[in-house]
Amino acid sequence: MRILITGKGGTGKTSLSAALSLLLSEIGFKVLALDTDSTPNLAQSLGIDPSIADEITPLAMNDELIRERTGVLPGSGWGAIFKLNPKVDDIIEKFGVKINDNLSLVVVGSIDASKQGCLCPAIALAKRFIRYSLRRFDGFVIVDSEAGAEVFGRGLAENFDMMFTICEPTVKSIKISRNMIRLAKQLDIKRSIVVVNKVIDNELAMKLAENIISGAPIHIIHYDDNLPAIEYNGYGINKLPKESRFMIDTKQLIDKYILIES
Ligand SMILES: Nc1ncnc2c1ncn2[C@@H]1O[C@H](COP(=O)(O)OP(=O)(O)OP(=O)(O)O)[C@@H](O)[C@H]1O
Ligand SMILES: [Mg+2]
Repeated sequence: MRILITGKGGTGKTSLSAALSLLLSEIGFKVLALDTDSTPNLAQSLGIDPSIADEITPLAMNDELIRERTGVLPGSGWGAIFKLNPKVDDIIEKFGVKINDNLSLVVVGSIDASKQGCLCPAIALAKRFIRYSLRRFDGFVIVDSEAGAEVFGRGLAENFDMMFTICEPTVKSIKISRNMIRLAKQLDIKRSIVVVNKVIDNELAMKLAENIISGAPIHIIHYDDNLPAIEYNGYGINKLPKESRFMIDTKQLIDKYILIES
């Protein structure tokens, strides 16, 4: 199953991606987590020490790899002719960070041409790798996307089975998720679920979301004091107690929408 995580900035995309990846891998599924943020931090949320996480070069920034695979060094000017079908089938093995026996992370970096500042070989390589993973990886693929990301571009989006669009219990944030659902529908992503995160008042949040969202299930994740505490120390989601609200609510999300489908 291929799962895309979208939503407004700061709503909890990376925390949810990490929790889903860790929980699914602990159940025994093979999981590949892909970080496509221009300032990637999924590694830290998966429990990698921040000083080590900082040393990981995202694929889209790995000039040597890009040159080797596409034939062009990034920044070598407009009009350079590069291979559009670079080799990517060894990238998980070579650049994947093993989080546990069942879970690997590949830090892809931004696939947004406007953020990378070019329509360049880096993006060609990154997108080809993501497409390859979505089509060929034997297990769950979880993609932590950047707010309003290029991940909706042609050739990628249609490979997802499910989108969790995460929002806070505010009108603005929920409306962004509503837009994501529209996009996902147009792009043939089979199923979308709205995750309202950081909820304090369950009833109020549900009412607010139901007023704005139609045609997609809504799942609540409660505000959890443990998250600011682990973030303060630079720890990952793996340090959250299993009985913490965030983990319980994410586990319910898995039971309700993922395990039933897979
Ligand atoms: N349920 C929750 N309770 C309390 N804090 C939370 C909860 N979910 C996420 N947070 C906190 O919200 C902040 C943003 O979370 P996170 O980095 O996962 O969001 P994001 O959507 O990936 O952000 P960005 O758009 O910058 O990538 C973090 O400090 C995180 O610990
Ligand atoms: Mg994030």
